[in-house]
Amino acid sequence: MSNRGFFHFSALPMSTRMVYTMTLLVLGTGYLFAMLQVFYSHAGLDGNPKNISAQDIRIAYHGSETDTRLVSALKGPMAGMLPESERAVIFKWVDSGAQQDAFESDVKPILQERCLACHDGSNPHIPLLTSHEEVMKIVAKDTGATIPTLVRVSHIHLFGITFIFFIVSSIFTHAYMRPLWMKCVIIVLPFLTILTDIFSWYLTKWIPGFAWFIIGSGALMGMSFMVQWVVSMWQMWFYSLPDEIEECGGTLPVIGQKSKTQNM
Ligand code: HEC
Repeated sequence: MSNRGFFHFSALPMSTRMVYTMTLLVLGTGYLFAMLQVFYSHAGLDGNPKNISAQDIRIAYHGSETDTRLVSALKGPMAGMLPESERAVIFKWVDSGAQQDAFESDVKPILQERCLACHDGSNPHIPLLTSHEEVMKIVAKDTGATIPTLVRVSHIHLFGITFIFFIVSSIFTHAYMRPLWMKCVIIVLPFLTILTDIFSWYLTKWIPGFAWFIIGSGALMGMSFMVQWVVSMWQMWFYSLPDEIEECGGTLPVIGQKSKTQNM
């Protein structure tokens, strides 16, 4: 028999199933917040803040063909930091050549009031907005996420997401699913797609068309997470195993002992 060592959820103690259930609940909530985070940091880069598009992803990694980093940030993640009218003043200043005189009279007071709370150098990872010279560095063409930023986010994602899927798929191993290859594909998929996702960031920085690989990787990862989550939760509490497997509680009967389903 090929299911030696397989314990279906129904063969696990109640307390173990509690650990699994609560872990899945919190990780599921985490996944929703991760999706919100993706939305808030990308939607609007292309000028439409209502949804997230392939164009948003291209601009985030490759940069914008038309906008500067300052303008992209003000259309995207920094849009909420100042009122529409003041944002228009900054856009106008960029469009009309980003001159120093106009900076001192029109733009600097806005930056002082709305931006310097964070962009005063206290956080070395975000651009300094204290002087014309500093601001000019981000008024150059938008070339997308910088390599150090990508490297920083890559290592966090590679470690973090591996932990998440190690946990989720270890739980999911207790699910009964046929054909077995499908279960294996669902388990392997997120580990592969985190790699393709991250390599596609760098490719997209270089060739914007690879944005579709980022989107595809994310979609497959999300689908795998959802299937593992739903199947695990459902089989943990509501599902009864097919009879021939129930016989041994989802595992191989020990020779010489009477097999019995254990439910607690
Ligand atoms: C509450 C803190 C805070 C305030 C206020 C703030 N920012 Fe930011 N800003 C951040 C953080 C954090 C990042 C980096 C994270 C990110 O890119 O989303 C950032 C990133 C940026 C970037 C870089 C985006 C890129 O291309 O990497 C620009 C440009 C920027 N902000 C402009 C502004 C402007 C202009 C204002 C004022 C209207 C402003 N920010 C107000 C916190 C702030």
